[in-house]
Amino acid sequence: MKDFILKIFEKAYGDTKGAEVYFAPGRVNLIGEHTDYNGGHVFPCALALGTYCGVRKRDDNVIRLYSDNFENEGIYTCRLGEFETVDGPEWCRYPVGVLWTLGKKGFVPDKGMDIVYYGNIPAGAGLSSSASIEVLTAYFLKELFGWDISMVDIALLCQYSENNYNGTKCGIMDQFASAMGKKDNAIFLDTNTLKYEYEPVILDDKVILIINTNKKHKLVESEYNTRRAESEEALKRLKTELDINTLGDLDNETFEKHIACIGDDILIRRARHAVSENQRTILAAKALRDNDIAEFGKLMVQSHVSLRDDYEVSCKELDIIVEEALKEEGIWGIRMTGGGFGGCCVGIADTDKADLISENVKKAYYERTGIRADVYNVSIGDGPHKVV
Ligand code: GLA
Repeated sequence: MKDFILKIFEKAYGDTKGAEVYFAPGRVNLIGEHTDYNGGHVFPCALALGTYCGVRKRDDNVIRLYSDNFENEGIYTCRLGEFETVDGPEWCRYPVGVLWTLGKKGFVPDKGMDIVYYGNIPAGAGLSSSASIEVLTAYFLKELFGWDISMVDIALLCQYSENNYNGTKCGIMDQFASAMGKKDNAIFLDTNTLKYEYEPVILDDKVILIINTNKKHKLVESEYNTRRAESEEALKRLKTELDINTLGDLDNETFEKHIACIGDDILIRRARHAVSENQRTILAAKALRDNDIAEFGKLMVQSHVSLRDDYEVSCKELDIIVEEALKEEGIWGIRMTGGGFGGCCVGIADTDKADLISENVKKAYYERTGIRADVYNVSIGDGPHKVV
């Protein structure tokens, strides 16, 4: 991969003198959706897929950015300190946002840079291509300029950037999963305390399937922020009766006893999802630890139903994939993953049936929607690193 990235670098800037190559992963969330800004648990893992970059320092204060995924947009040029706005390609708002955020925290590069990016996760698929660009940028800056920043702080800084520079009020999951990824492990993270544990994902004769609906939803960000606001409103109302800080503090029983004080059907359903999904995630981590994939799969399906009916962040395409997959023999569980409204489903299937399941689901999905789905064979990879 290093040579491939250096070729891109040469294409953009003429030569590769002094260029280094780095990588940061995307993520897939196994379970625990829309819980991370509600003080609940998440259970993501970093993918072996993600974003690569080639970077070298310059002698002046010029920063040049190029992405091979947005080849037609050309090279964007800015100068150190000019990070308030981006007068160029949309994708540049992710790396420049990270430079802006780091600058606010006192981390200011003393040299310009030439940078190229190349991602091998499809954008808009719900596999955190944007978080991988952010984490990658913070990581190579830390390495190039010798800054003392922990990987958890990198995740927090990148979340800050996404919240304040890009305007999506996302939780910590994506940036944390990318920054803290560990090969063959999922991360069981309490978003309330940021305490985490690595759980080995040993599936023996089963595999993780990721099926992309190839449906992108334009309203994702505004709908996402609306869900967050609805959850916060429900919490505010529950706090009139309960001594809690987040919806993640509640178990299902206590929640159901107090729903009357929320007094609004939509808000009750939003909060019910946040509370029950957190409980499911805790149970799922235990099921994985006990190697009880049947239980894990059952919880995945319950998670999908809750996201579809209570949180209303699924869409027709995701529901069709889940419905068709569940007709197949050898599927243990499947659900939408990520923010929703399109993107991917994640499931667990018997290895020897995975190809047949994929073919059947793709066929049925095409017949029902006219869209071709993609299936990825993914493995769980490490967090950010230099590529040598
Ligand atoms: C997006 C956000 C995450 C998380 C998920 C839903 O991926 O970036 O913080 O809220 O949606 O679980």
